[in-house]
Amino acid sequence: MANTEQTDQRPQDAARASLAPKAREIFAGLWATLFGSRRDIGKSVLICSADRGEGASTIACGLALAGSAAAAGARVALVDFNLHNPSLHRLLGANPSPGLREILTRGLAPEAAAQRINESLDFYAAGDSLPDAQLVLAGPAIAEFLNMLADGYDHVLIDAPAVNRFPQAGVLAGIVKDVVLVAHTERTPLEAIAAAKNHLESAGATLAGVVLNQRTYPIPSFLYRRV
Ligand SMILES: Nc1ncnc2c1ncn2[C@@H]1O[C@H](COP(=O)(O)OP(=O)(O)O)[C@@H](O)[C@H]1O
Ligand SMILES: [Mg+2]
Repeated sequence: MANTEQTDQRPQDAARASLAPKAREIFAGLWATLFGSRRDIGKSVLICSADRGEGASTIACGLALAGSAAAAGARVALVDFNLHNPSLHRLLGANPSPGLREILTRGLAPEAAAQRINESLDFYAAGDSLPDAQLVLAGPAIAEFLNMLADGYDHVLIDAPAVNRFPQAGVLAGIVKDVVLVAHTERTPLEAIAAAKNHLESAGATLAGVVLNQRTYPIPSFLYRRV
């Protein structure tokens, strides 16, 4: 689906939750590929990876920031559903809670947890950490919450835990049908990508595309332009 170079693509300044110009361009391109070229893509998209550390949260965050800036007038929600290892609040300079824990297990109204990042983007944090036994939340409560978001926003991006490690990803894939799988270009084994794809599809989801993240170019860029 797309390659992302290993450059300064992370949100440049967490407090301002902004992207460097080159990152903005790359993520805006990815957004256009995702929502522009596939007419049948749904409002809600799950962003996940086979294992941890492959860039799912970075891509989810970059897509949300660039997409909310590019899609004029559209309202975008970014949801941190990685309850095992939430990180989006740090990338965005937002609060870690209240968030999903409070919404899904304590009945907090979702609008009370929404954090306004910019005029088009709302962020829903993971919330207070959950004891291990409660980490896999039941499908119906999640479906109800995510359907509500899909009613209120034009696009909903959901950062999921690593598919090959945590059952929560499968629960989410059964609810959110369109999935973007992020893979580390050099580190993620093909078997791990195949296993993740298989897991997602057997949960009922469709792969909207694969992002090959952190691609590095062995040829120096000034030469690369000539070859
Ligand atoms: N394209 C990229 N260029 C440089 N660093 C990246 C890129 N994508 C991810 N990273 C870094 O790799 C690490 C893991 O990324 P993260 O998005 O947290 O992965 P995941 O959510 O899959 O666990 C982080 O330190 C992040 O800043
Ligand atoms: Mg992550």
